[in-house]
Amino acid sequence: MRKIFLTAVAVLVAGCGEKQPKSDFVWDLPKGYPAPTVPHDNPMTNARVELGRYLFYDVKLSANQTQSCASCHIQALAFAEPVSVSIGSTGHSLRRNASSLVNVGYNRSLTWAHPYIRSIERQVLIPMFNEDPEELGITGREQEIMQRFNSELYNPLFTDAFGDSEVTMDRIAKSLSAFVRSLVSFNSRFDRYTNAGDDSALNESEIRGMDLFFSEEVDCHHCHGGFNFTQSINEDEEIDEHLPFHNIGMFNIDGKGGYPEEDMGVYEITRKKQDMGAFRAPTLRNVAVSAPYMHDGSMKTLEEVVDFYAEGGRDIKEGPHKGDGRENPFKSQFVKQVELSEQDRKDLVAFLKALTDEEFLTNPKFGNPFFQQKVPENGDALEPEEITESAEQ
Ligand code: HEC
Ligand code: HEC
Repeated sequence: MRKIFLTAVAVLVAGCGEKQPKSDFVWDLPKGYPAPTVPHDNPMTNARVELGRYLFYDVKLSANQTQSCASCHIQALAFAEPVSVSIGSTGHSLRRNASSLVNVGYNRSLTWAHPYIRSIERQVLIPMFNEDPEELGITGREQEIMQRFNSELYNPLFTDAFGDSEVTMDRIAKSLSAFVRSLVSFNSRFDRYTNAGDDSALNESEIRGMDLFFSEEVDCHHCHGGFNFTQSINEDEEIDEHLPFHNIGMFNIDGKGGYPEEDMGVYEITRKKQDMGAFRAPTLRNVAVSAPYMHDGSMKTLEEVVDFYAEGGRDIKEGPHKGDGRENPFKSQFVKQVELSEQDRKDLVAFLKALTDEEFLTNPKFGNPFFQQKVPENGDALEPEEITESAEQ
């Protein structure tokens, strides 16, 4: 972690003093919604977003050329991954479930449990330079990897984005961040119901589920509230920096609130007891497609998640993680046992599924530029066809 931070500082210093272009990027937002905050030294331009998209899908960004960002962040799955924890380019397991990348630009802090990683520009360096375990594995091979992008394909992309074709780690980080920031999603059926006045967008079960979600008794919105279904919103400078992080009672290994040694959440950063097992309440937009769930990917379905909350935590009866999470002394008081009928549970799950934005999951703007989409005349299934030197994964 320390090493990553030093690398980050070096990269950021290298990028200082550059003259910045004017933003020509148009946010696709519903009326009245704020745009994500954009740092002064990385204005959103279409050229940076486009370069970032190529880099995001390019396996050249990993030392052994086997992995890209998109290996762990898959568009059809809301840029998450269908495995409990990610595996890096050299085959080592990470300890966490890949975050979905939905409206990331609004997040006050990045990753599952770090109150102080505040910029995407800094966050994207982690998968690039992480050594323990390796993800893309760039550390020590920076020159070689930058050289790979000095190519016929990338020279004009860098020139459009930064004025000349020079490849630097700072430019790579900035354009990747611009692409990640462009991933906004506000076109679910829930949005059509609430913003576009389309009363038929939700069915009865979904509406009952929505009412439960926002009710005082079930209180999901307490932590998954606001327009992005999370408390992690960077608009509000006044909020308590610990606000979006909660222990929801997944573990209680020693009966004193212990979480597994491999991941103790915010506690690892602050070393404060009350932060044991505290993780960020993530956005629930597109959550139906981003299974498995939670920081460790230990819950397979939304039904399992809803049963978990109805119990007020998780009682693990045997094995190394044995313990009654419902009794975890650091558990948030807002996670409490609540009586839910079978129908209530179905309704809640139905509502969560209505937060899926199909357009976001299939929008070619966010898709792999190395595959050309052929749209047949009758509008049938899209056939991806490989067109250039690099391929996904
Ligand atoms: C080996 C799998 C893997 C690769 C490759 C990978 N990621 Fe991730 N990504 C993860 C995991 C796991 C997390 C959660 C990390 C944590 O909480 O500590 C994450 C978190 C993130 C986040 C934070 C999202 C949020 O809301 O807090 C961003 C942004 C991100 N990744 C972008 C990228 C980019 C850009 C790349 C390519 C440079 C990349 N990732 C490559 C697995 C991966
Ligand atoms: C006290 C705050 C809090 C309340 C109340 C709460 N959540 Fe959560 N939620 C969280 C946190 C924190 C996480 C991540 C926990 C972890 O991984 O350790 C989470 C994770 C989730 C996830 C998994 C998301 C993903 O991408 O993996 C879903 C789904 C979810 N919550 C739904 C709900 C529903 C439905 C309710 C109401 C029944 C609810 N939550 C109530 C804080 C809360």
